[in-house]
Amino acid sequence: MRDTGLSLARSLRGVGALASAALLAALWLLWLLQSAPGAAPAPRPTLTILIWHWPFTKQPPELPSNTCTSYGVAHCRLTTDRSLLASADAVVFHHRELQTQRARLPLADRPPGQPWVWASMESPSHTHGLDRLRGIFNWVLSYRRDSDIFVPYGRLEPREGPAPPLPAKNGVATWVVSNFQERQRRVQLYRQLAPHMRVDVFGRANRQPLCADCLLPTVARYLFYLSFENSQHRDYITEKFWHNALAAGTVPVVLGPSRATYEAFAPPDAFVHVDDFSSARELAAFLTGMNQSYYRRYFAWRDRLQLRLFRDWRERFCAICTHYPHLPRGQVYQDLKGWFQG
Ligand SMILES: *[C@@H]1O[C@H](CO)[C@@H](O)[C@H](O)[C@H]1NC(C)=O
Repeated sequence: MRDTGLSLARSLRGVGALASAALLAALWLLWLLQSAPGAAPAPRPTLTILIWHWPFTKQPPELPSNTCTSYGVAHCRLTTDRSLLASADAVVFHHRELQTQRARLPLADRPPGQPWVWASMESPSHTHGLDRLRGIFNWVLSYRRDSDIFVPYGRLEPREGPAPPLPAKNGVATWVVSNFQERQRRVQLYRQLAPHMRVDVFGRANRQPLCADCLLPTVARYLFYLSFENSQHRDYITEKFWHNALAAGTVPVVLGPSRATYEAFAPPDAFVHVDDFSSARELAAFLTGMNQSYYRRYFAWRDRLQLRLFRDWRERFCAICTHYPHLPRGQVYQDLKGWFQG
């Protein structure tokens, strides 16, 4: 009996060992299959975004493979290598070079179904030749909120860390302007303000150019900065608001789209809107009569929000990859001009 029990135990142990071995083999096989190409969960392929002509320059920046990763966008390669036209996942055309015909659309070599992106950060007043671009582009990259790839000039984000102290002030209002033409609304408004208040004007228009590093420290010494856009268009709020005023730590006096539009981008008490006043004289009286307690309210937002500027074309182009999976396929801007001027 004892012998039989022993041999039974032995054979049971044998079966157990066999089962474990089989289980291990099965797991190993499963692991092999998992890691075999094709069977694994497909890794996201890297998208290739071809920039046909870099905006405003023949000398594109270096575009190392980690360019978009440094902006927090993975699986995205920017290139200016036109030999990749046949295989690029999207091709971007910046409008200025199409307008000046420095760049031509490679229509004859366009692979069927390849998405083409029309890119511009300029206002409709400075955009010409759109009637020639009917039925060509699938997506738009611009500052307009209804763009397929919306790239504002700046944004307010939840604050991390304490707000920097406000710069000391010793002047009321300043303006930096290079393109100064009487037909511009901003020039007309300046002409109406000037008799009622002092505005220190810098920039090429006044033969008082400021070096790139001098602009912010100069503007910072004033209570107000005239963030007057060169033309007034839907959502057209540029670096004159985000950089020249907010980044400098001063209060923008805005002339651009409606107050409601500005309020879609920034808190209502972060700026002075010229439409809040019935005349330039009234606006001048408000600005020159400012007191400290009232002035500080324009910076209340800085306790909870911080400024983020978007100034680099690389970051704007990397945003195409972020949106890529959700961009509308088969969409075509038949009337790009009508859309952009609308
Ligand atoms: C500060 O200015 C605001 C706006 O003009 C005004 O309503 C307020 O009475 C002023 N406060 C003082 C203390 O002068």
